[in-house]
Amino acid sequence: MCHARRPAVTVTVDRVTFLQPVLLGRLVLVHGRITWVGRTSIEVELRVEAEHLLTGERVHTNSAYFVYVALGDDRRPTPVPPLLLETEEDRRRFAEGEARHRQRLLEAGRSA
Ligand SMILES: CC(C)(COP(=O)(O)OP(=O)(O)OC[C@H]1O[C@@H](n2cnc3c(N)ncnc32)[C@H](O)[C@@H]1OP(=O)(O)O)[C@@H](O)C(=O)NCCC(=O)NCCS
Repeated sequence: MCHARRPAVTVTVDRVTFLQPVLLGRLVLVHGRITWVGRTSIEVELRVEAEHLLTGERVHTNSAYFVYVALGDDRRPTPVPPLLLETEEDRRRFAEGEARHRQRLLEAGRSA
């Protein structure tokens, strides 16, 4: 919603695998980063970490890609702004996001 400044709905979530348990009393931190945008959809990589409040130790517990679709006033998908790719890493992440997008559409039986 912050990128598009439009209401947005979740269209799909990739597999969520727990790499480590989140133990009772840990602070859960969720970091989000936009990795790819299409015409109306936005892929966000979410990385979850659990922090021990007394030692500061952090463990990576899971990551997942969420895809959102921006909606216009008519509640139909509406175009989103392009993503500013500033570094080689941004461009690599974007290309990987594009490949995941194509794969999701294939799995959903839609043409890419
Ligand atoms: C999301 C929704 C608006 C898309 O409607 P639609 O008729 O498929 O619209 P479009 O065909 O124009 O697709 C819109 C975008 O979603 C993408 N999309 C559609 N199905 C997808 C899927 N299974 N996986 C990944 N992307 C998908 C399309 O590629 C397109 O992205 P692009 O413009 O960047 O290429 C509609 O499916 C919906 O309302 N779903 C329910 C959402 C919801 O209630 N979520 C839970 C609560 S937030």
